[in-house]
Amino acid sequence: MKKTVLAFSRVSPEMAERLQQDFNVIVPDPKLGDMNEQFNDALAHAHGMIGAGRKLGREQLQNASKLEVVSSISVGYDNYEVGYFNERGIMLTNTPDVLTESTADLAFALLMSSARRVAELDAWTKAGQWKRTVEAAHFGTDVHGKTLGIVGMGNIGASIARRGHFGFNMPILYSGNSRKAELEQQMSAQFRSLDQLLAESDFVCLVVPLSEKTRHLIGKRELGLMKSSAILINISRGPVVDELALIDALQNGTLRGAGLDVYEKEPLTESPLFQLSNAVTLPHIGSATNETRQAMADRAYQNLRSALLGEKPQDLINPQVWKG
Ligand code: DGY
Repeated sequence: MKKTVLAFSRVSPEMAERLQQDFNVIVPDPKLGDMNEQFNDALAHAHGMIGAGRKLGREQLQNASKLEVVSSISVGYDNYEVGYFNERGIMLTNTPDVLTESTADLAFALLMSSARRVAELDAWTKAGQWKRTVEAAHFGTDVHGKTLGIVGMGNIGASIARRGHFGFNMPILYSGNSRKAELEQQMSAQFRSLDQLLAESDFVCLVVPLSEKTRHLIGKRELGLMKSSAILINISRGPVVDELALIDALQNGTLRGAGLDVYEKEPLTESPLFQLSNAVTLPHIGSATNETRQAMADRAYQNLRSALLGEKPQDLINPQVWKG
């Protein structure tokens, strides 16, 4: 008998069709009524789940008695209560690698946009404000040659550093749990404590996963260590930054600017950030290109299929539950 898969988001009709070759597939549909109700009804039947952007843990999965695997279409897995998955023996998989370059591109888009005031001056031009030659009040700040600090030098951090070093001749500083000898050699990257990095960098880019250790890693004290001419880029997770402290620093000019893709509460529909011309605000689009989202979906499909057909999935987050 075919196993059942519950798709909880971001599943294209093509993916649903592909899944149907091996599994019964349930895709909640707003046309069929309340989405949460459909989701909760389907839980009791699901052997596998695929999607992203939904919190799943003890509270949500009580009725999912048959559940063997959750395949997340994301690299970050802070939405999932991994301890509970381990307790229940449920496999959890993610989609690393395939979004590294797109996410690094987006970090640089935020960095460039914040430094050269691209989004702000685009809106200004379209509002018919360009009546004479632009003067100092609208000047930006250079990117090339400035110091780039990367907080969390994983794969995405390294790709951002490569863009900075090879493309913009930026000295690279980094902080994190371990030294990266290869990167130190390739691009003369220098290791710093977080406090030192914050004090020395012109651009600080946050690329750490969210955990209890990194929640509010950047708060009032840390923002106070940064140069007032510096720009903070966050493409990791919103709660890594104390958003109220950041808003305060941007309002008071103790920080020049911020380029943000992530927020403490998402989706962000209202915020003092919207009134700040020195904040660039994007709607969590780090991996949102057609090519990358397709690659992530393919990888998540493979992980789910392997797990449900008895093979060890490529991107198993909690290998201790593997019974193969
Ligand atoms: C991820 O994959 O974790 C990114 O934030 C995109 O959703």
